[in-house]
Amino acid sequence: MPKIVFLPHEELCPEGAAIDANEGETVLDVALREGIEIEHACEKSCACTTCHVIVREGFDSLEESDELEDDMLDKAWGLEPESRLGCQAKVADEDLVVEIPKYTLNQVSENH
Ligand code: FES
Repeated sequence: MPKIVFLPHEELCPEGAAIDANEGETVLDVALREGIEIEHACEKSCACTTCHVIVREGFDSLEESDELEDDMLDKAWGLEPESRLGCQAKVADEDLVVEIPKYTLNQVSENH
């Protein structure tokens, strides 16, 4: 069974976490299941960027993002080559190491 390691995030999981994942489950669903409240403003319909995550290890095991996801990601805060939308990235058969960005666009617009 693949595992997702979430790197520590100040608010969402200060200690980090290692969670068993089922193949085909999205990164976002795995996090939410364990109480890591990654935002998901559009209810997982690939229409926002609040579920943005960066896949530090195992990125290549994921199915490639489609055009819609790429378009949304372009608008994400802190975009990196290994960025994905958590609600679209489905776990395959490899372990992943995932970083949750410090900000999402929602927070940035609220705080600044
Ligand atoms: S929750 Fe909006 S794109 Fe993932």
